Amino acid sequence: MKQRKPIVIANWKLNGGLDLICTSVASFIGKHFAAQIAICPPYLYMRDMLTFLQYSELQIGSQNVSRYESGAYTGETSAQMLKQAGCSLCLIGHSERRAMFAENNEGCQIKVRTALNHELLPVLCVGENQQQRETNITEQVLREQLRGGLTGIDLHGKDLCIAYEPVWAIGTGLAATPAIAQEVHQFIRAELTRIFDEATANRVRILYGGSVTKSNARDLLQQADIDGLLVGGASLDPGHFVAICEQASELAEIDD
Ligand code: 13P
Repeated sequence: MKQRKPIVIANWKLNGGLDLICTSVASFIGKHFAAQIAICPPYLYMRDMLTFLQYSELQIGSQNVSRYESGAYTGETSAQMLKQAGCSLCLIGHSERRAMFAENNEGCQIKVRTALNHELLPVLCVGENQQQRETNITEQVLREQLRGGLTGIDLHGKDLCIAYEPVWAIGTGLAATPAIAQEVHQFIRAELTRIFDEATANRVRILYGGSVTKSNARDLLQQADIDGLLVGGASLDPGHFVAICEQASELAEIDD
């Protein structure tokens, strides 16, 4: 039995426009999903989506958040601004930000803390690259990312999500098999037990991301420690994304 409510998050990255907003929103209006569903569009489109979504259960998330509260930080958007705009969650430490924008574990930890302080659900992204997997240091990399990103964080009953996104699976069409993903998710939960405690680790939802499609979503979600999905490319096709959300909702209903 799944203990945790499934969550499906779309990460549009630097894609999309007003057309995609309209077609995506239209596919969600009037529908009920037992799973928690969120879309992370580019910042510029958040307000447009939020206006459309006041009658839908869909939530809006951000792809990043500033580690700073306010001040002379050109180009940044704070957790407080996101919360006030109506955002529910934020991705932190996505592998593309780690690789291309020099994000590190210490910065992620500050961002997790900032998000929690402003009642945004932090989704801390972790994952090994192909070379790290091939040299059998996956667990070491994940341990460093989790400990570095969560040290000193006290959840005080607040929610946290972890997204396991193996870099070799992102945008490649080569998703991790459900068995490989489950094995890693189980390791992540054990690590969360060491960082927090068993009860906390058992309520943190761990999402899988990396070439998720409507064809592999169900098998992934059926794994005991896979509590949700973080979807890139497939979320840019509204019909495809809705199909993934429906599968997550069916599993939620079965498990209820
Ligand atoms: P893809 O689903 O396109 O592989 O992207 C995954 C991802 O990076 C989501 O954050």
